[in-house]
Amino acid sequence: MDLYEYQARDLFESYGVPVLAGIVADTPEEVKAAAEKLGGVVVVKAQVKTGGRGKAGGVKVAKNPDEAYEAAKAILGLDIKGHVVQRVMVAAGARIAKEFYFSVLLDRANRSYLSLCSVEGGMEIEQLAVEKPEALARIEVNPLTGVDKDKALEIAKAAGFPEDLLDAVSDVFVKLYDVYKGEDATLVEVNPLVLTEEGDVIALDGKVSLDDNASEIRHPQHEELADKATENPLEAKAKEAGLNYVKLDGQVGIIGNGAGLVMSTLDVVAYAGENHGAVKPANFLDIGGGASADVMAAGLDVILGDEQVKSVFVNVFGGITACDAVANGIKGALEKLGSAASKPLVVRLDGNRVDEGRAILAEYAHPLVTLAATMDEGADKAAELANA
Ligand SMILES: Nc1ncnc2c1ncn2[C@@H]1O[C@H](COP(=O)(O)OP(=O)(O)OP(=O)(O)O)[C@@H](O)[C@H]1O
Ligand SMILES: [Mg+2]
Repeated sequence: MDLYEYQARDLFESYGVPVLAGIVADTPEEVKAAAEKLGGVVVVKAQVKTGGRGKAGGVKVAKNPDEAYEAAKAILGLDIKGHVVQRVMVAAGARIAKEFYFSVLLDRANRSYLSLCSVEGGMEIEQLAVEKPEALARIEVNPLTGVDKDKALEIAKAAGFPEDLLDAVSDVFVKLYDVYKGEDATLVEVNPLVLTEEGDVIALDGKVSLDDNASEIRHPQHEELADKATENPLEAKAKEAGLNYVKLDGQVGIIGNGAGLVMSTLDVVAYAGENHGAVKPANFLDIGGGASADVMAAGLDVILGDEQVKSVFVNVFGGITACDAVANGIKGALEKLGSAASKPLVVRLDGNRVDEGRAILAEYAHPLVTLAATMDEGADKAAELANA
């Protein structure tokens, strides 16, 4: 889960990272009131989960509350790379002397953590990495030892910070790493980290991505950070039902058991779709080991709720949960859903007790259900039905 800047700001503050005062607001009137409360120069900043807000006109300096009101009118409703601004943060204005860059992230390729740091902040880091790679320090961080004061100093020196700033910035790096570690983040990025005219080092803009796998058990409070309003409603529904579901942009709904089987089903359906009007898989859905009627019904319910879906391919390999149990699960799900089950279903069963499973569905003879003997045949049939 990615956080909004204001959420990152609050998290930083709770870990003692120096940040400026900030107030979120949803209307120009609220922005004006926030600017009055903060006093002095403020910056009105679009809260969207995408980069390059400044360039898109989503960050505006306002010298007084009336200017803040006008800035809010210009920013609220603005479309930044497909994200419509519904909320802004009114931040106290900093007098910036210099802008730097700092991040720590999960480095999957090297199975480690990585810190990126530069004294040349402000500009987009992707651009800096391409145009001036020597200005961007890349320091591996051992997950077992993390970023202590020594490591932070190593990073600051590698990034080219002047001697007189080393102590101050390294303190901030240690605290930012505390956020990363303490919250089980996969990214903590500050761009820009600034030095003010007053000589303070402040995190002016923060991006934080949290590891969802850690949230449920280790950080139940992260639930409050979830953005219900912009979450895909189908994904939200699936999450509530405890299903492993990802919405994709296609027409063939997919249900399978086991992540590997579902992934290969996506491939096979995409391949089969090439012969049937280029239809594509509509989702990833792994119902896991126990394919009970309830889980099957919940899965079908989510998939049938996707208006793009024209057919569904159920591809199950019976293991501990045998095919007859799965077949009864499908039967139960169709009975449970009644008229809500309105799209053709292609079912391929194989594995433990396959004959019994197929016999149950053959006898049931539901008009929407087609049985397929193999995965390829099922994918082809489902793609054909989606294109009909
Ligand atoms: N509170 C502030 N006071 C003074 N200047 C600010 C403040 N916040 C941002 N700025 C200026 O605006 C620039 C852009 O701000 P910011 O980094 O928050 O947005 P961005 O980088 O355009 O967006 P993103 O990080 O989403 O790409 C900063 O580099 C900084 O110069
Ligand atoms: Mg930024």
